[in-house]
Amino acid sequence: MNAPDFAAAAAAVIDSRHTTVFTGAGISVESGIPPFRGPDGLWSRYDPALLDISGFRARPEESWPLIKEIFYDNFGQAQPNRAHLLIAQLEAAGQVQAVITQNIDNLHYEAGSRRIFEFHGTSRLLLCENCGRELEAFTPGGDGLSELFDLMPPRCPECEAILRPAFTFFGEPVPEPAASLSFQEAELADLFLLIGTTGSVVPAAQIPVLAKAAGARIIEINPEPSEFTGQISDIYLPGPATTMMEGLVEAM
Ligand code: APR
Repeated sequence: MNAPDFAAAAAAVIDSRHTTVFTGAGISVESGIPPFRGPDGLWSRYDPALLDISGFRARPEESWPLIKEIFYDNFGQAQPNRAHLLIAQLEAAGQVQAVITQNIDNLHYEAGSRRIFEFHGTSRLLLCENCGRELEAFTPGGDGLSELFDLMPPRCPECEAILRPAFTFFGEPVPEPAASLSFQEAELADLFLLIGTTGSVVPAAQIPVLAKAAGARIIEINPEPSEFTGQISDIYLPGPATTMMEGLVEAM
């Protein structure tokens, strides 16, 4: 495999007018969060049917302990890594205009990114679909779980209905306005930086394809080829998110 062409990637970022970063589970692997697919992926250990909206609605008492284990006990304490931090620095420097993430782990926020579209929602909030309240899932410092988790399943303190996480379950539409704003980015951006996503889950995977059709250049970071590699990617940096982002930023 060829060495990563950091100089070409850096030049593309410097030359671009509007750079949108598009991330998947791979950017958070080096923060200790496993991806969904592949041999160590979540779906090799857990049944994705438990995260189907109809399964959750029919048996929230069974789904909730699993949701808590995967998304709150195991991953709630993860910290942003160098890749998340460098993206936030590039945004502060005016060289990144937006982040679209399929991740629900909140790590772009914690890293300091500001213009973030969470395409699959977030684990940060719990929602009451009965009375409409939104509640924080973590304690204010972010290092512990809110007392809502003392009850399983967690219930709304106001009306006692069972709460749900503010992330998208399988079988649900993606949340608005994040979805529409993400698709707008495909028109606005002249550069997309894809990091750690297989490109196999729609509608998210359509966004970079639309961006390419609208004239954007595509840089891709992924240790393994994805659906985008060799198809829409103009510059492919084959390696982990942290090392590749460090190489790219050093070359700028
Ligand atoms: N750095 C960058 N990329 C990595 C790293 C790393 N250190 N480690 C693994 N990857 C890559 C893998 O090669 C793979 O292409 O990250 C990708 C992870 O793939 P998935 O787990 O399928 O994640 P993603 O594409 O984000 O999944 C999309 O699927 O289940 C749904 O809603 C869920 O948002 C998720 C969506």
